[in-house]
Amino acid sequence: MSQIVGLADKQFVSDQYKNAKQLNARIQLHQRFSTNKYGWHRWAFDQFSLPPHGRILELGCGSGELWLENIDRIPAKWEITLSDSSVGMLQQTRQSLDHSHRFRFALIDAQYLPFDNQYFDGVVANHMLYHVPDMHKALSEIHRVLKPDGSFCASTVGQKHLQEITDLVRRFDPQLAWWGIRQSDSFVLENGAAQLARRFTDVTLHRYEDSLVVTEPAPLVAYIFSARPRMTIDQQVEFSNFVSREFQRFNGEFYITKDAGMFVSRHPLHS
Ligand SMILES: C[S@@+](CC[C@H](N)C(=O)[O-])C[C@H]1O[C@@H](n2cnc3c(N)ncnc32)[C@H](O)[C@@H]1O
Repeated sequence: MSQIVGLADKQFVSDQYKNAKQLNARIQLHQRFSTNKYGWHRWAFDQFSLPPHGRILELGCGSGELWLENIDRIPAKWEITLSDSSVGMLQQTRQSLDHSHRFRFALIDAQYLPFDNQYFDGVVANHMLYHVPDMHKALSEIHRVLKPDGSFCASTVGQKHLQEITDLVRRFDPQLAWWGIRQSDSFVLENGAAQLARRFTDVTLHRYEDSLVVTEPAPLVAYIFSARPRMTIDQQVEFSNFVSREFQRFNGEFYITKDAGMFVSRHPLHS
């Protein structure tokens, strides 16, 4: 598994998250066609175990979906800082959540956290660590800002996550330049525990059982185009027609594997 994120990945990440447009296309597919109707963000929130007066930091908050979907059950005394390294993402989150006056917003790269030692009771990194170029730096910073016994929740996906989408693109054109779904294997379900165990204790992986059964080709095509495959307009049309034919082949129901989960760990009491 590659531990190195190259320059092209960095360009991909800044292009992908310039604003919320691409991410929203992906969230849409999951919201509409996931078989587990409980919902990822409600489930992710269930995994937190934080004190009622806790200080919480979210890294790579994206469009703030985690908080929007749990707004009805956030403890009144939590002090929450939402952060992202993308200005566009943070602006979108601020627009959606600022009215509640519950949140602070910060433009932050997860590798450099501008907070005092042992400041937070909880840090959340939801589907974002695999984008961070220097994982050691980020984990060391998270460790530094967490209080002893503070909790670190880091979600990610497994290597088989959305495999059928990658296979579909490959069937269309095995040579297509496409950064795919995950872009990097630097922090996945298969290798996350070992990385966390170097700094944190009680590392436990909770898996979220789910899959996608997509019944319309257009949202799937939009999802794939959100990852900007290098295609001319003609190829895009050809690809859309190809996906429609594939749907017919599968009687209008396209099954996609999902493999996602959250590592919950603790800052050691003595370190
Ligand atoms: C896949 S999105 C996840 C968004 C959100 N956590 C969610 O689950 O809906 C990844 C987010 O991480 C942010 N990101 C990427 N690299 C980052 C870094 N080094 N530091 C902080 N945020 C980063 C991106 O801008 C993007 O908003």
